[in-house]
Amino acid sequence: MSAFGDTKAITPPDIRSCKGGTPLVCLTAYTTPVARLVDPHCDVVLVGDSVGMVLHGLPSTLGVTLEMMITHGQAVRRGIKQALMVVDLPFGSYEESPEQAFRNAARVMSETGCTAVKLEGGETMAETIGFLAARGVPVMAHVGLTPQAINAIGGYRVQGRGGDAERIRRDAIAVSEAGAFAVVLEKVPEALARRITGEVAAPTIGIGASAACDGQILVVDDMLGLFGDFRPKFVKRYAELGEAAAAAIASYAHEVKERQFPAAKHVFADAPKPADTDATKSGEAA
Ligand code: KIV
Repeated sequence: MSAFGDTKAITPPDIRSCKGGTPLVCLTAYTTPVARLVDPHCDVVLVGDSVGMVLHGLPSTLGVTLEMMITHGQAVRRGIKQALMVVDLPFGSYEESPEQAFRNAARVMSETGCTAVKLEGGETMAETIGFLAARGVPVMAHVGLTPQAINAIGGYRVQGRGGDAERIRRDAIAVSEAGAFAVVLEKVPEALARRITGEVAAPTIGIGASAACDGQILVVDDMLGLFGDFRPKFVKRYAELGEAAAAAIASYAHEVKERQFPAAKHVFADAPKPADTDATKSGEAA
């Protein structure tokens, strides 16, 4: 159960007030059924641009479009009752100027019904975060490993192990001071995550950043064992749904070939028997 219970929708100020308290529970979702599953347990549900890799088979998040985020955002909105819903701004939709970021954030908010947006970047995005926050757009920031900058970074390795630790620390401070209501810290060492968490006013949400953070987020398909393309060290698999699904699909294929499926109970008769009358009335034609 979320730290807030499920009596009212969680707001960005609620999240900010959780600094230093019970860890915040956050997961991604991209569809209505998964949003319904995660909503009762989460403080934040993120429609992450990871959707491009997880559901669309893209090699990185760079090919994700605003239209994709809006479509998945609309689906997730239908499954959320209490969690704070955040939608990622995709690569190229906010970096050019604060005005571009506002225009696209406003579109995402009005077309999906989400409460907040997330964007990647530290000191360089602080002005934009302030611009959005001052105009009614709550922003979740994202520093450390920023997958939209993968070409510039050169790989998905741990960030902040050397001389870049101080830059990441300054990034986190800058986005928090600019008004971000929470800061995702991705793939940084525990000592740096602890230091940043102790220094910034906004709650830190870790992904591969240790339990020193104020909350945790995972990609839901990773923790359910549904996404097998790669297996980062920081992901704990709470289920192996990919294996269960593969076994179920193999059983189906076997039973179809052996004419074991469909069985008699899955087959409609020519004419309804008297006992079938109610089902027939309710729309299940014989
Ligand atoms: O896109 C995403 O799912 C994310 C989380 C992993 C933080 O940014």
